[in-house]
Amino acid sequence: MTRSSISSPKEIESMRLACAKAAETLLAVGEFLQPGMTTDDINRFVHDDTVKRGGWPAPLNYRGFPKSVCTSVNEIVCHGIPNADVVKDGDIINIDVTTIYKGFHGDTSATFYVGNPSTTARKVTECARRSLALGIEAVHEGATLGDIGAAIQQYVEGEGFSVVRDFVGHGIGRKFHTDPQVKHYGKRGTGERLRAGMIFTIEPMVNQGTYAVEIDPADKWTVRTADRGLSAQFEHTVLVTKRGCEVLTARGSVLRNSENIAAVFV
Ligand code: MF3
Ligand code: CO
Ligand code: CO
Repeated sequence: MTRSSISSPKEIESMRLACAKAAETLLAVGEFLQPGMTTDDINRFVHDDTVKRGGWPAPLNYRGFPKSVCTSVNEIVCHGIPNADVVKDGDIINIDVTTIYKGFHGDTSATFYVGNPSTTARKVTECARRSLALGIEAVHEGATLGDIGAAIQQYVEGEGFSVVRDFVGHGIGRKFHTDPQVKHYGKRGTGERLRAGMIFTIEPMVNQGTYAVEIDPADKWTVRTADRGLSAQFEHTVLVTKRGCEVLTARGSVLRNSENIAAVFV
């Protein structure tokens, strides 16, 4: 098995800074989001906000990705390309921000509510939000990658939804995507053992119906649910510590159009 790399104290400090920038931009775009704007408007905002903070948007030209942020609306699972389409009342949209700051990457995303989405849309979104929290709670030195996946999968499937298999969390640092692959499903006690100093993302994609997805044959990026059901996602970059983990992309305040109207279901 490959051993994922351990970051040095200096690298960890650089990652704290890059991740804080990404978190700030995600907060800012949550304030900016409104029904009637286009995903290109969101792209422009994220680009300018990232640069304003001294960073650079990692998605731009990454493996040919043409924009500065991923905007994934409703049945789009991930890697949605900003365009002239308008976001409208009732939509849910994942906005995935990755900032390069002084050579290091911070990666974080959230699903936002545009106006007043359906109860089902809220349930899928809140399930994804909670599943990330449960995945994070499973992280500590000595736990395994499988423990993270199992915690997420057990919760999501218990809610009657499904976990995407084809896209996973990832190691991150000077490079956008490295080992390990962090699956959002699996069995407890399996996979690589976590060691303090490992840094990776957890980014579960939760589908209303089948976990099967399709990549758009025309643009080769946009990932949609195979059944065109809804999909929601949240992402944090985390550092493994002896006692647990540090959420490097933790936010300093509540996420507008998402956390402030998080639905509670009984
Ligand atoms: N931010 C995505 C992730 O969480 C990756 C986007 S790659 C891009 O890993 F090229 F689409 F930006
Ligand atoms: Co990521
Ligand atoms: Co991301």
